[in-house]
Amino acid sequence: PRIAVLFGGRSSEHEVSVMSGTNVMAALSPEKYEAVPIFITRDGRWLASRFDGKTLTKPESGTELALVPGGRGRMLAIGADVVREAGRIDALFPVLHGLYGEDGSVQGLAEVARVPLVGCGILGSATALDKVIAKRLLRAAGIPVAREAVLHAGETADFAALERELGLPIFIKPARQGSSVGVRKVSGSQEFQPALTEAFGYDDSLLAEEFIKGREIEFSVLEDEAGGLFVSRPGEIVPAESHGFYSYDAKYVDEAGAALKVPADLPSELEAAMRETAARAFRALGCDGMARVDFFLMADGRFLVNELNTIPGFTNISMYPKAMGASGVGYAELIDRLIAHGLA
Ligand code: DAL
Ligand code: MG
Repeated sequence: PRIAVLFGGRSSEHEVSVMSGTNVMAALSPEKYEAVPIFITRDGRWLASRFDGKTLTKPESGTELALVPGGRGRMLAIGADVVREAGRIDALFPVLHGLYGEDGSVQGLAEVARVPLVGCGILGSATALDKVIAKRLLRAAGIPVAREAVLHAGETADFAALERELGLPIFIKPARQGSSVGVRKVSGSQEFQPALTEAFGYDDSLLAEEFIKGREIEFSVLEDEAGGLFVSRPGEIVPAESHGFYSYDAKYVDEAGAALKVPADLPSELEAAMRETAARAFRALGCDGMARVDFFLMADGRFLVNELNTIPGFTNISMYPKAMGASGVGYAELIDRLIAHGLA
């Protein structure tokens, strides 16, 4: 089959997506698939990319690609004054993080184009990407989450009231962002306004969340063609002390920013309970295909779900493929299974 791999994109995680897309391309076996890499520019145009086995090109101009509505994978190349057929694709594999890619928008485009989609569909993508909505649904399903208050742009925020309600420090997070972009840890009133300004730069609603002291444990969830869920062994993120939390820099800029421990060392009953909760969280948000479920595990053995990522990172430091690998599903097989799910 011909698989269109979308990478880059309009979100603030553009560069992360380029790293993820490169690894996905490298894992697509040329004996089995004809991969068609498509670079999405920061302003949202689709341009044909090429992969030399190591790097993906990131063209800024040229003929633009378009999926035809109802076209069952028919693509057109649109030049300044000429439109030509650009071949047919059998599945769309968005390797995009954040808004306009992981949020249901591209998933909706696949539905409109009537082309099979790899990964999570419209509903689960949209609910998981919005942390306000996701937490409501998780709570409604009886899954523990951290306490938060929701702040909207244009309304006044009372730091003293938040401090009374949530304690200190408080995490300020845009509702719809990934890779910790726009996230700040606030330890005193003087840090509050700058954190709001930063987070409101990314979204109109944001969360003020209580600080949870705990280990960061993550599970990869993969749905099979019949709808059964495979939940991986746990992975643990150990951020370096110097970064304070698992920030964007700790993830992608500073190589020593965090270490991954896979599988994480957990008592077996605890691991089983967390795996079961990961599967319930996946269902609670209406996910299908795949997601990484991120937890905090506290010293007293209680745990809560921090968030779900429906297009988790596939970079060299990313947990989703590592945790699958530690569970007996190597990179190439993981990609095979994801595509099989999409084509089913
Ligand atoms: N949002 C990043 C890519 C992740 O969750 O891995
Ligand atoms: Mg995320």
